[in-house]
Amino acid sequence: MPNSVSASVSNSDSAHYGPQLGDAEFDFIRHVVGENAGIVLGPNKRQLVQGRLARRLRELGLPSYESYCNYLRDAGPEELVGLINAITTNVTSFFRENHHFEALASYMLPEAMKRNSGSRRVRIWSAGCSTGEEPHCIAMVAGEVLPSSPRYDFKILATDIDSDVVAAATSGIYPLDRMSSVSPERLKRSFQKGSGEHEGCAVAKHDLKSMITFRTLNLLHAWPMKGPFDVIFCRNVMIYFDQPTREKLVNRFSEMLAPGGYLCIGHSESIHAGSAPFKLVGKTIYRRNGGANG
Ligand SMILES: C[S@@+](CC[C@H](N)C(=O)[O-])C[C@H]1O[C@@H](n2cnc3c(N)ncnc32)[C@H](O)[C@@H]1O
Repeated sequence: MPNSVSASVSNSDSAHYGPQLGDAEFDFIRHVVGENAGIVLGPNKRQLVQGRLARRLRELGLPSYESYCNYLRDAGPEELVGLINAITTNVTSFFRENHHFEALASYMLPEAMKRNSGSRRVRIWSAGCSTGEEPHCIAMVAGEVLPSSPRYDFKILATDIDSDVVAAATSGIYPLDRMSSVSPERLKRSFQKGSGEHEGCAVAKHDLKSMITFRTLNLLHAWPMKGPFDVIFCRNVMIYFDQPTREKLVNRFSEMLAPGGYLCIGHSESIHAGSAPFKLVGKTIYRRNGGANG
């Protein structure tokens, strides 16, 4: 981390109320976030960073971004969590980019069942799961596709760098007004009506929750799991990284996938042909080379 940070304030910010994020503090925060989370904050992200960190300053009772940067430097890894939780973009929704869930039902899960007919082990990773809508959708689809008897050893690993969203995801509780894209049949099968403090919410049923393990994990760090996974969802995450980081990550995903397994990425993301052992087989769906289908 750079050692000294001066309190400079740009003219364009001075019109806003509250502490202003100066050039040096913005550069320092961009550097720390880039180094530790891989998230690239371009020069046009100053207002976004200021807005997202304003609450953190209030929580810590700090009067300025200069004092926050000094605090961050002194607290080290402890405050890194607070910084990253504040900075990440966690936008998500149920059945976002629904074609991935349709593909999951129509061929990804059936192929995985066939490939793993001996072990009956099927594994899916939701990497960058945010508040958990994505892994809960995977679980709903799997509940419809996998036979209940004899049971498959089916598990979803759902990870995110942001410990706040992981905590929210683990609760499995969602306001009903955020669930309009979940069909009434699915809602009824997989959720129950919340009551008391959860009035107006849907609460994931045990069967659904038990398929998912939520963990905090920085995709840039070492991964504790061995794999192989049959499908990896890493959607709308790599968009925040620079190209070398994306390429490295895609190669690491390929090593975690079973031959013939699938990687689903976000609508505005792509994998460069030849940079990893993947073939584009559908809209933002990549199949790892090898396995029964070549
Ligand atoms: C826009 S959300 C995408 C959520 C979901 N995958 C979807 O497509 O709806 C991006 C998520 O990536 C997470 N993220 C960003 N950098 C990360 C990193 N280095 N390691 C793990 N997760 C990261 C953020 O915390 C955020 O929750």
